[in-house]
Amino acid sequence: MRLLSIILITAIALLFPCKFSNASVSDLHGVETPADTQESAVRDLIIRTIGEDASKHFVVYVDKTMPLRSFQIKKTEASTLSIVGSDGVSVAKGFHHYLKYYLQKHIDWTHTKVELQLPIQLPNVTIFSKSASRFIYYQNVCTWSYSFAWWSFPIWRRHIDWMAMMGITLTLAPIQEYIWHDIYVEMGLTKDEIDEHFAGAAFQAWQRMGNIRGWGGPIPHSYRRMQKVLQQRILKAERDLGMRVALPAFAGHVPVAMARIFPNITFTPVERWNHFPDKYCCGLFLDPSEPLFRQIAVKFLNKTIETYGSDNIYFCDPFNEIQPRLATADYMNATAFHIHESMRLVDDSAVWLLQGWMFVKNMFWTDDLIEAFLLAVPLGEMLVLDLQSEQFPQYERTHSFHGQPFIWCMLHNFGGTLGMHGSVDIINTNVRLARNMINSSMVGVGITAEGINQNYVMYELALERGWLLDDFDLNDWFETYADVRYSIRDVRLHSAWQLLRQSVYSYKGLLKLRGKYCIARRPSINLSPWVWYNTTNVSNAWAQMIAVLGNTTIPQYNRPFATHDLVDLTRQFLQITFDQLYVNLMTAYRSKNMEKYVYIVDKMLEALNDLETILATNMEFSLSRWLEAAKILGRTPVEKQLYEMNARNQITAWGPNGQIVDYATKQWSGIVIDYYRPRWVLFLKMLQKSLEHNEKFNEEAFKRTVSEEIENPFSISTKVYPTEPVGDTLTVAKQIFHKWTTYTDDSRFKKYCNKPIRIVYVNI
Ligand SMILES: *[C@@H]1O[C@H](CO)[C@@H](O)[C@H](O)[C@H]1NC(C)=O
Ligand SMILES: *[C@@H]1O[C@H](CO)[C@@H](O)[C@H](O)[C@H]1NC(C)=O
Ligand SMILES: *[C@@H]1O[C@H](CO)[C@@H](O)[C@H](O)[C@H]1NC(C)=O
Ligand SMILES: *[C@@H]1O[C@H](CO)[C@@H](O)[C@H](O)[C@H]1NC(C)=O
Ligand SMILES: *[C@@H]1O[C@H](CO)[C@@H](O)[C@H](O)[C@H]1NC(C)=O
Ligand SMILES: *[C@@H]1O[C@H](CO)[C@@H](O)[C@H](O)[C@H]1NC(C)=O
Ligand SMILES: *[C@@H]1O[C@H](CO)[C@@H](O)[C@H](O)[C@H]1NC(C)=O
Ligand SMILES: *[C@@H]1O[C@H](CO)[C@@H](O)[C@H](O)[C@H]1NC(C)=O
Repeated sequence: MRLLSIILITAIALLFPCKFSNASVSDLHGVETPADTQESAVRDLIIRTIGEDASKHFVVYVDKTMPLRSFQIKKTEASTLSIVGSDGVSVAKGFHHYLKYYLQKHIDWTHTKVELQLPIQLPNVTIFSKSASRFIYYQNVCTWSYSFAWWSFPIWRRHIDWMAMMGITLTLAPIQEYIWHDIYVEMGLTKDEIDEHFAGAAFQAWQRMGNIRGWGGPIPHSYRRMQKVLQQRILKAERDLGMRVALPAFAGHVPVAMARIFPNITFTPVERWNHFPDKYCCGLFLDPSEPLFRQIAVKFLNKTIETYGSDNIYFCDPFNEIQPRLATADYMNATAFHIHESMRLVDDSAVWLLQGWMFVKNMFWTDDLIEAFLLAVPLGEMLVLDLQSEQFPQYERTHSFHGQPFIWCMLHNFGGTLGMHGSVDIINTNVRLARNMINSSMVGVGITAEGINQNYVMYELALERGWLLDDFDLNDWFETYADVRYSIRDVRLHSAWQLLRQSVYSYKGLLKLRGKYCIARRPSINLSPWVWYNTTNVSNAWAQMIAVLGNTTIPQYNRPFATHDLVDLTRQFLQITFDQLYVNLMTAYRSKNMEKYVYIVDKMLEALNDLETILATNMEFSLSRWLEAAKILGRTPVEKQLYEMNARNQITAWGPNGQIVDYATKQWSGIVIDYYRPRWVLFLKMLQKSLEHNEKFNEEAFKRTVSEEIENPFSISTKVYPTEPVGDTLTVAKQIFHKWTTYTDDSRFKKYCNKPIRIVYVNI
């Protein structure tokens, strides 16, 4: 182990010799935040987490002379534990390590408050731990729209505490509209031109990247001001804890009105993205080699730094899902060179944080073009996020990004959809393999989910794995996860989590997972559901969970975790069941077996009802939480309605007319009853009619009707949903369990629903 770390350090040293006059990734050590500020920030974090009284047992220090990203835990007196770290985040990480592994207390995205019984029994341990990753990274530009769109500072406060306790040292701050507004006004754009440019509150991420414009807008200026202040508070909280935050830089995307102001400059219209109509697409791209690019870039970065301060790291992606104008190495070199130069004009220590996503499965990016793009910037002055290393890693193909440092990221989730899945073995093993590659330029591990609040286990695993040098014993890791999450040791819970680990969480394939299971998809006769695991494992895990919760008392503090997981497992069971019903429905339809058809339709509608019922028992699976958070941001009824439309549209039609329908679909109560169920009812009726009249099913007519009558109206509805849970999770889960056990044991079910879901096991 020691040998490995020596090799690693030597490899990094070889890669980043001190040949640059400018700063580089290897100089991005700690932030400037003084040790005592970080100390008091982490002290406050501990108070928020365990309360004032319990916090007195923890003495924390930040010692910047300690090895980078390390902590030391010691029991100094009978009732005092000392945690010293190289920075606030490392102390918080050490604190969480002790909390999890010695006090058996769990935190997650939604719960970061822990109750400790006083006086605390503090196990005497002496631990020194140093992160194997220089950076532990979190966030995706899309997370800000899919998950954070409506967050206020108190939610951020809790989230930043979670980030620190997970050891996250590098993150993003993409809010930039207030600054752009100033610049556009200064350049002479009219209010209308500006309003046509900025996208709505739920769609900012894609407008920032140049994919769309205007959709969901216009945004009131007060909203931009509010966002600016919010981001200032977020940044302060993150930096106080010792995190480093990447700020946006100019990538070349400008409003269409720029062509009016600069008639003599050639702008390239961005190609249409996902069939968005002209009104909402095809903004302009300004080539970074144009002198105007430099002017705008410098002005923007200058204002950004004045507004938000700087940690010398800036992100920008000129070609995210956008095809470059020219496929030549010269063009790639010039583009990347000038983007980086424009950063350096403002900050000569600038490091460019780049998403490697554009290289993934894109024929355009030949090896030569990638190399020209990456090497246009001095080695070490670019930091690449290998965005989905668990499925489509680019570090091998690009020979470790030709020496540019990179972060191994787990993307895992698109659009914040639900559905259990993950690749635990790949994460466990490949982090090590990537670090140990010859000439590896890997400098960290990260999570880059487009949306959060699903599959919590995966994120905890990936972040912990990032800190460590060696692989986990996954068996042990999952067992501890179950013990700590529910605060009881029970073999049935161990077994449930091992079943999940070996099924839903064992994905190794190359088919893309996009969270669109039949239940949550626009119905069609051409769906082709598939699974990569033995679905019996999931039902068995569900049964175990119900049994445990039925006859064991879970401590109060842990109950929300247990009920959350029970809802999720019940949801997963119904999702799978619905896929299977669909598969058999189609055999009934094709063989024109009306009796079978009617039987299955009945079961499908029941599955939809059951899904709504179980989700409604827990607010974490509710539409109302999302909608209420959006509405609260509006100061007038008109604004409230606009934000509600944004919130609803993003998770359903995604666009004025279903442009990327269901991409960010959510299995939430409220959506099931008013969106999924009506769609299926309509489909099943139309399909039945075609069966009765022996006519071909008119898929096009169905698409038109479902879009006009259900999908698009859902976006503009203002129906209010319950803000409190309805029903008791365990009772409802048990009812659903017994009902479906009875069905599946029934001879008619066995006869009519015997075709399994297609299984795609891929061994790589
Ligand atoms: C903890 O254990 C160490 C090593 O056994 C011992 O030296 C130290 O005195 C103990 N600390 C306390 C507070 O019990
Ligand atoms: C554009 O170019 C023309 C011809 O060279 C020149 O007359 C005009 O002043 C230029 N306009 C601007 C806005 O630079
Ligand atoms: C921004 O520009 C102003 C005026 O030119 C200058 O005084 C200031 O130092 C610049 N700030 C940064 C962060 O470059
Ligand atoms: C890349 O572009 C810059 C700026 O035009 C130039 O100085 C450099 O020589 C180019 N590098 C290569 C490899 O073409
Ligand atoms: C590693 O880097 C060295 C020095 O640049 C080079 O000679 C060697 O070929 C590289 N090895 C591989 C496997 O890329
Ligand atoms: C799935 O697992 C169950 C229980 O372990 C087993 O009985 C069944 O044969 C498995 N099915 C397949 C297709 O592997
Ligand atoms: C889960 O399913 C897989 C695939 O059929 C099977 O190999 C494995 O044994 C099952 N796990 C358990 C614990 O039954
Ligand atoms: C709970 O159920 C399990 C399995 O049926 C049984 O072994 C256990 O004794 C029960 N525990 C309690 C507290 O009833």
